[in-house]
Parts: sequence; structure tokens; C-alpha cells
Amino acid sequence: MKRLGGEIEISGMKNSALPIVYSTLLINGKCTVDNIPFVNDVMLSLQILKHLGAKVDIINSSCVEIDTTDISLCEPPMELVRQMRASYYLMGAQLGRFGTAHVCYPGGDDFGMRPIDQHIKGFESLGAKVNVSGGYIDIEAPNGLSGANVFFDVVSVGATVNVILAAVKTEGVTIIESAAREPHIVDLANFLNTCGAQISGAGTDTIKITGVKELHGSNYTIVPDMIEAGTYMVAAAVAGGRVKINNIIPKHLESISAKLLEMNVTVEEMDDYVIVSREGELSSCNIKTLPYPGFPTDMQPQFAAALCYANGVSHISEGVWDNRFRYIDELRCMGANIDVSGRNATIKGRPLSLTGAAVRAIDIRAGAAMIIAALGASGRTEIAGVEVIERGYVDIVGKLSAVGADVFKLGE
Ligand code: EPU
Repeated sequence: MKRLGGEIEISGMKNSALPIVYSTLLINGKCTVDNIPFVNDVMLSLQILKHLGAKVDIINSSCVEIDTTDISLCEPPMELVRQMRASYYLMGAQLGRFGTAHVCYPGGDDFGMRPIDQHIKGFESLGAKVNVSGGYIDIEAPNGLSGANVFFDVVSVGATVNVILAAVKTEGVTIIESAAREPHIVDLANFLNTCGAQISGAGTDTIKITGVKELHGSNYTIVPDMIEAGTYMVAAAVAGGRVKINNIIPKHLESISAKLLEMNVTVEEMDDYVIVSREGELSSCNIKTLPYPGFPTDMQPQFAAALCYANGVSHISEGVWDNRFRYIDELRCMGANIDVSGRNATIKGRPLSLTGAAVRAIDIRAGAAMIIAALGASGRTEIAGVEVIERGYVDIVGKLSAVGADVFKLGE
């Protein structure tokens, strides 16, 4: 096993960039979005915007200018929409801009059931009529939308975003109860507020939106990606050594840092960077994933990979998705001893260790978990589906090899 050493720069948050990109559909004018991660899902979203008539100029490796002044209401191409889940932000964005939306059902990672009932409930609370048939979602507001109280039955990032998008230019006051509190919700609200929106309470479970007539262009910088940072923190924990992870917001990483400390990893937090190092052996721990500020489900596979190398038995309970353990079979190919029962996994770690194997990246975070597993394994691991990992990570191969990991893309 090769120990890691050096520094990694964290990119902007994918799950902020996606709603922010779609929200520009509501704006009359040009927006400059900085610290944007040009991962595959963001590139696809920009392509969708271009199809709708937006002018998209990539200024440099982390900055884009988007002008949606001349967009028209037309159907976005199904082959693009079907490649990711975030394309469902088109529903809220088109509804907010045109008072109507016609979008095909989104694609994205398979975590079991991924219903959109809460999105629909939110749109209906604002006065829209929603019809789902033949793989399409049709939303109309024959009498216009009006501000209302929206009560979600489940905490949903996507539904919270969609209601914000639909309500931001809707007359009256909309109050979202049981809103998601993730930093990406706060980032979207901050972006829209710089464009003239009136959104308060983002980051709490009650968000208030006072509708405004128009939104104008602005310049905005996306917050750092806490899941990308967390992924490299876990990579450093497994490989050992000392890695400085730059451009982070430590507050967003609290639940991740706390778990690593439990696992006998040293985490030194500074204002905008964190240093992760490990000398002794990893200890087992128990994890339950929850909506923010709980432990993020998007870090669950990476920690599962790390816990294969920990002393003792660890338990993971998945509290967000029905079926987020499909990747466990890939870890088993490497020799992992993991039992899964419903939403619970039991991982038996050392003295067992993993060996390299041919595995697959079955979704973005599961793919990152395979890289982490491979860093600790003896022998060579080949991971098929690197393009899946690149849906969510900017240059993961380059960033890891810069700190000494023996990782490269086959065929390059
Ligand atoms: N849910 C419903 N009804 C709905 C919507 C959601 O029952 O109408 C349920 C889901 O089935 C799930 C829970 O609510 O059990 C949470 O789903 P949520 O809507 O919050 O998920 P999402 O918005 O589709 C985003 C991220 C995911 C991340 C989840 C949870 C984006 C683009 N995706 O998905 O990120 O796992 O929130 O934090 O923001 C990733 O980045 O790799 C990723 C999968």
C-alpha cells in the first residue's frame, strides 16, 4: 500500500452547481458562475440549456457565463434528460419561467425507489396541475401560480429545490416546511438572492420565499464540494500518510470528520483547509446516514470501503435510500466480508484484507468507493465505468496521483 502525501484542491459542489445552472432559466440576463465543477452531469446540464436557447460560454476551467434571455419553451432532448436525475430541475425552472413544463422522466443512479411525489405535491400546492403519463411529466398552471404553504412528508433535496424554482417569481409568499437543509440548498438560495430573489431561512427546515417580478444576472461563486472533500479525506485515511485538503468549509464536513476521528484518523481543521493523517490502524465504527446535518448518504459507500480495513465489526444503516448497497457485491469481489440485510450492512474488517480485482463503478459514489478500496488493497484493481465516477468528480485520477496514489486511466 502506498501512503499519500501532498495537497488536493477541492472543486465547487456538484449538487449546488446543478440547481444553480437550471435556475438560470428563470433569469433575464447574464450570470457568471465561478468555481463551477465541469463534471459530466454539469456539462450535460449546460448542453440541455443550450438546446433551450441559452448562450453558454466557458470562460476557464472553473467559470461559465450563462445568458438565458432568449430561451423559449421547448422540449429538452430526452437522450440528455434521461442521463441524470438533476434534469428534473427543469420542471421547477420551466414552470417558474413559463407557467408550464413538459419534461420526460429523469434518469440517474439506481438507489431503489426514486419517487417525485413530493415535487408534484409542492407544484400542486402552488396551484399547478400535474399529469404524469407515457414517461412524461406535464405541468400546467391554468390560473397562474400563487404563493402557498408547502408541507413535505419527506425531507427531499430535489423537491425543496424545485419548489424554490417554481416559487421564486410567483406572486405572494411561499413557505416550505420540512425543507432540506443541505449546504447546496443554502447556495442556491444565496445565488438567487444575488439575482434579486427574496428567499430566507435556507439552511433551516422552514424556507420563506417572497415572489419577485424579475430576476437579473449576477456573478456568483459556488461553495466547495463537501462530498468530494470527504472522499479524499477517506482516501487519505485508508492509504495512510498526510494529505492537506484545500478550499473547504469545515462546518460542512463536521459529521465526516467526527467519524474519521472515531476511526483513529487525525483530522486537523483550519479555516479553509483540513489535514488528514493516519499512523495507527483504523478502528471500526457505526454509521447511520441521515439528511443534513446528519451523516451524508453520499459518503456511505466510501466509508464502507474504508471500514473493510478497520479492526473489528462495523454497522452501517442507510437512512435515506431504499437500496444503496448494490455496490457491496463489487467490494465482495475484492474479498470484503459484508452482510447486507435491507437497509443495514455489517462489515467485518481486519484481520481480513482486500485484494485487487476487476470491479465496476455502479454509481458516482460507489465508483469512488472502489478507488478507495483499491488504494488499500494488495495487487491491481481495474474499475470499469470511470465515466460514471466523472459524473461527480473533477479529475479524480489527476488529484489522487498528485498526492502519490498509483492510479491512472487505462487507454490514456
Ligand atoms: N423522496 C420521496 N419523494 C420525492 C422525493 C424524494 O419519497 O418526491 C425520497 C427519496 O426516495 C429518498 C429521500 O426522499 O428516500 C431523499 O431524496 P432526495 O429527493 O433528497 O434526493 P435527490 O434530490 O434525488 C440529492 C442528491 C443525491 C443525494 C440525495 C440525498 C443531487 C443532484 N442529488 O438527490 O446525490 O444522495 O440528494 O442527499 O443533488 C450524488 O451526488 O451522488 C447523489 C446521488
